[in-house]
Amino acid sequence: MDKLIIRGGNRLSGSIPISGAKNAALTLIPCALLTEEPLTLRNLPRLADIDGFQHLMNQFGVTTVIQGTRPEDFGRVMSMEATRITSNVAPYDLVRKMRASILVLGPMLARSGEATVSMPGGCAIGNRPIDLHLKALEAFGAHIELAQGYVKAYQPDGGMPGGDFDFPVVSVGATENALMAAVLANGTSRLFNAAREPEIVDLCNMLVAMGAEIEGIGTSTLTIHGVKRLHGATYRVMPDRIEAGSYACAAAITGGEVRLEGAKADDMMATIHALQAIGVEVTWDAKGINVAANGALKATDLTTAPYPGLATDMQAQLMALLCRAHGTSVLKETIFENRFMHVPELARMGADITTEGRTAIVRGVERLTGAEVMATDLRASMSLVIAALAAEGETIVRRLYHLDRGYERLEEKLQLVGANIERVDD
Ligand code: UD1
Repeated sequence: MDKLIIRGGNRLSGSIPISGAKNAALTLIPCALLTEEPLTLRNLPRLADIDGFQHLMNQFGVTTVIQGTRPEDFGRVMSMEATRITSNVAPYDLVRKMRASILVLGPMLARSGEATVSMPGGCAIGNRPIDLHLKALEAFGAHIELAQGYVKAYQPDGGMPGGDFDFPVVSVGATENALMAAVLANGTSRLFNAAREPEIVDLCNMLVAMGAEIEGIGTSTLTIHGVKRLHGATYRVMPDRIEAGSYACAAAITGGEVRLEGAKADDMMATIHALQAIGVEVTWDAKGINVAANGALKATDLTTAPYPGLATDMQAQLMALLCRAHGTSVLKETIFENRFMHVPELARMGADITTEGRTAIVRGVERLTGAEVMATDLRASMSLVIAALAAEGETIVRRLYHLDRGYERLEEKLQLVGANIERVDD
């Protein structure tokens, strides 16, 4: 198993290319099930989760072709063709490794009238139920059965009528599943209190490019007029706002100055405002974001919330940054319970953090020190990398499979801006 060795203290400077968004890609890929024609995705990040999803699509009989890009390039192009669906079952073995597999439920149900998907089960960052995914599909007229750890959804005779669903809690995944199911329904469906994350907008835009009829894109009320069929499309995945925000924190904690090439400021204003409150200078143009941390970092209070609020996926990285700020910060996590698993590991690096339920109190410290650490989820792992970049001495980060799920060639990108980081075989 690989590990990362990071020697802290280098000031990051230069430019980092931002990859396509993992969370957008994970909902765009299953859209290939919605049409017999080829769907081509450009700017797909090279990540373990994307490979896993490709494998799942192959399992359904979808042909996938990765077009030739040079190994040194970031991103890639994948064409998928679901001429004939040979299986509509997503088995436990594949779903277990990748929770986002649940996103095949809606499109598979819409395309083949029936879908069986293993329940994703527990997850390190909390319970993460799928009840809202199922309730939305039921509201459209689908029948749902649960048995032996699997969800089986099927359309009524004559197809899915469509219907209205009001989300009691904002859910990104459930909104995505509902959208992908509603586009091929017989009638009109309406989603109230829908998630409006930029990744949802990306999904809607691609579905429209495939011939779907959706009103209210970017708002919390979506109206979907079902169409008989969708056609193929070529679509470029949006830039990853969480990857960009993570590298912004990395640059800031080293007092560095970095350009995030390809990042889109409009999608991440809450993160930009948080960075500015911490004393980081942030400017942007149509092609990227510039981050510069020249003065001292300031403490600030932050609360995660559904978009346009501060992304829960940025909480751990901002917490790492606040460990080096002057003063005391209060961080509240409102989306997931149990999303402070990075706290004990940061503490091992000298951070002063106490938690109480979903609140963390971070007292800025003069210095962080290198340690052997490991994290239990993707963003928590990144927070340790960020802390390590500013820590005295050497940090060893283990369990890299988390990072490999969500950061395309992390160490190469950080090396580009002068970080002392290497991946070694343990
Ligand atoms: C997605 C993102 C994840 C991000 C999260 C919140 C992907 C692949 N993952 O996850 O990185 O952290 O959005 O921005 O895009 N809930 C229910 N019932 C449900 C579904 C969700 O109660 O059926 C609850 C969850 O427990 C959680 C909240 O709703 O408290 C939000 O979860 P949700 O937005 O669904 O997150 P994911 O789509 O799983």
